Amino acid sequence: MPSSAPAAAGFLAGADLSANAIECARRASPGYLDLTSSNPTHHGLIFPPQVLRTAAEPYWATRRYDPEPRGLPAAREAITRHYLGRIPPLHLQPDHVVITASTSEAYSLLFTLLADPGDNLLAPDVTYPLFEHLAAAHHVALRTYRLDESRGWQIDEASLLARADSHTRAVLIVSPHNPTGMIVQRPIVALDQLGLPVICDEVFADFTYRVPHTPPFAALHPSLPVFMLNGISKMFALPDLKLGWIAMNAPAAATFGARLEILNDLYLGANSLTQAMLPALFANSLEFTAVMHQRIRASLDMALAMLAGCPTLRVRPPDGGYYLFARVQGWDDEEALVLHLLARGVLVHPGFFYGCEDGTHIMISCLIAPQTLERGLEIIIEALTP
Ligand SMILES: Cc1ncc(COP(=O)(O)O)c(C=O)c1O
Repeated sequence: MPSSAPAAAGFLAGADLSANAIECARRASPGYLDLTSSNPTHHGLIFPPQVLRTAAEPYWATRRYDPEPRGLPAAREAITRHYLGRIPPLHLQPDHVVITASTSEAYSLLFTLLADPGDNLLAPDVTYPLFEHLAAAHHVALRTYRLDESRGWQIDEASLLARADSHTRAVLIVSPHNPTGMIVQRPIVALDQLGLPVICDEVFADFTYRVPHTPPFAALHPSLPVFMLNGISKMFALPDLKLGWIAMNAPAAATFGARLEILNDLYLGANSLTQAMLPALFANSLEFTAVMHQRIRASLDMALAMLAGCPTLRVRPPDGGYYLFARVQGWDDEEALVLHLLARGVLVHPGFFYGCEDGTHIMISCLIAPQTLERGLEIIIEALTP
């Protein structure tokens, strides 16, 4: 029977979507320094416009819409060359690459591909907040495995094994991890024991800090079906040009490639212009990415040196990525802590924003323009020094 009651079914139906206390305080605090941003275009990291113009030029002269379900061949070939340049080099077939509009869209396709409603996926217990909503949108459950802070946030293999059941369809891994900066550097025995497909998000792979390289995940686990996700949003600081990809190793492509192609063909989300530009972006981005990586490393150096002087903060140099995830002593209420810092003019994210329930943590993004970052850190250190 038709009802006039509010919708009780569908995505986030019944959820409380009102602003939380931190969001309300943020809206009421003009002029604070935002140390949470992940948006390079807000912090002076601007991919050279001339390289973009030159890369786009041939497209306009020969423009014709020839959609390809896995993405334009030249773009897929450029992506496979990228993996050959990773350390260790990884040889992939262009046909094993599927181009999407973003990494987030890639996740969405893979959730549909791998799981039925009621199934579950294993995800880290601390992670950037995307999986929960994506899983809800796909009617799959997330079961969290533990990252061990005392071992540099490495994956706790016992918890990985304990959390899997007969409905588990894949393991999600983020390496370098957001926000802890952990990079998976060695094969994980528990993954081979589980034998499940692995989705590894490598969007920060080029942003290394404490360790020299991010091994492409399929190089660590060649016999498991592995889907590696990446895109130009972080790699080239081009989140607005909307291009990501799924790179499959041979076991993943053999079992899932044909069905993934049909799924991607349903949407054809990646626009042809950006795909056509991609080979030139890879070829002509070296100077920019070197400057960007250098700036981020210098900001991490500065932040770690400054925070080392604050007796209530403990922060480990990250393996990679551009975030610091610091443990704060003397506070057990993260919301109160973040509000305390905001009242002094600086915004950070609380650990609970990333699902972290053990101890008190704050996240600081070192993508922020260096002067702003320095001033923000001074405020934090002053506010947290007894
Ligand atoms: C680990 C990680 N993966 C993926 C994304 C999103 O990437 P995209 O812009 O390609 O959807 C983000 C965004 O911050 C991220 O932190």
